[in-house]
Amino acid sequence: MASVTISGLSKSYTGDGAAALSTLDLVIGDNQFVTLLGPSGCGKTTTLRLIAGYMNPDTGTIAVDGRVVSSKEHVVPPESRGMGMVFQNYAVWPHKTVVETVVFGLKVRKTPAARAREQVAHALGLVNLSGLENRLPGELSGGQQQRVALARSLVVEPDILLLDEPLSNLDAKLRDRMRTELKQLQRRTGITFIYVTHDQSEALALSDQIAVMNGGKLQQYGPPAEIYARPANRMVADFMGHINFLPGRITSAANGRCQVMLLDRLPLEAELPAGLATGDAVDVAVRPENVILSREGAATSGLLGQVSERTFLGNLIEYDVTLQAGPSLRVQTHPGSSFAAGESVVVSFEPTAISVFAAGTTEKIEG
Ligand SMILES: Nc1ncnc2c1ncn2[C@@H]1O[C@H](COP(=O)(O)OP(=O)(O)O)[C@@H](O)[C@H]1O
Ligand SMILES: [Mg+2]
Repeated sequence: MASVTISGLSKSYTGDGAAALSTLDLVIGDNQFVTLLGPSGCGKTTTLRLIAGYMNPDTGTIAVDGRVVSSKEHVVPPESRGMGMVFQNYAVWPHKTVVETVVFGLKVRKTPAARAREQVAHALGLVNLSGLENRLPGELSGGQQQRVALARSLVVEPDILLLDEPLSNLDAKLRDRMRTELKQLQRRTGITFIYVTHDQSEALALSDQIAVMNGGKLQQYGPPAEIYARPANRMVADFMGHINFLPGRITSAANGRCQVMLLDRLPLEAELPAGLATGDAVDVAVRPENVILSREGAATSGLLGQVSERTFLGNLIEYDVTLQAGPSLRVQTHPGSSFAAGESVVVSFEPTAISVFAAGTTEKIEG
């Protein structure tokens, strides 16, 4: 199929220096499901439109399988790039049947009728629409209409499929099902998927690689588990679901590791962030599921606190705990745990699940 190499890509719409996208570098491997993730306005759609060839970049290049298709001077037109595109607003024509809609791209390409029939049948099979060939959009559910839009892009057999928030108009249950189907579709076809969403759970569930963006800049690029567990900065940590930040100070540092004194009372070990040294103030970040609660007396070390809120969420229990040292934090445990509101607890942390950032370096989430 196809790989995409993006180098130093920038785009400004206004010309006054405010960049929608700043010097993006990204290598998207062949047969990968890659997601551009970030808050509204961070430059996802701009990136996708540049990849599709709808506009010229201000700087940088885009290459497909090593061949440059976009630069400031020259852009290969969208229809000659071997790419398909699916949008959030799956515009299907109200008076055309499923078959008439899906066959459109093949008619434009003057594909012989017999071959076109085969390709349409194949595309409809891929998205589970076989049997609904003669329905009009008004006779289809939202999910089925989105499948028509998918089939319309797949029928021309693209090497790369670009999808811009394709599930955001569907209700939660249907979105979950389509998620699974999209992933299976990518696996079955081997098409390189470049997928845009602002929904971090969608990105975690679908992707081989996630590119987290903020304010037109790439923040981190890696597999979902790495983005979630080893966020490169506070913006990424914050965007990928709830995370607690607690103040501490580095007491010693060597060989890429450091000792941190948390809240002046609990020593922890963590990876040493670049540019920090002994004596520096830090924020220790830990996700709710990596906080351990124990009854007083049962734990050898930890921070004393009190449960201020207990919320039963079915598959887990969420606690808000106020530490004796001041701050509060959120904790998630399995549904069998039974601490009561008001109960005194000892708080400790999964030793490998702690990230440390320079104190107060909040990369604001723009959007
Ligand atoms: N056609 C346009 N004209 C001017 N500014 C635009 C245009 N499209 C997008 N922008 C601006 O560029 C930035 C990135 O937008 P966009 O790529 O659409 O973000 P996202 O898809 O992540 O929500 C935003 O600040 C947005 O307001
Ligand atoms: Mg967008």
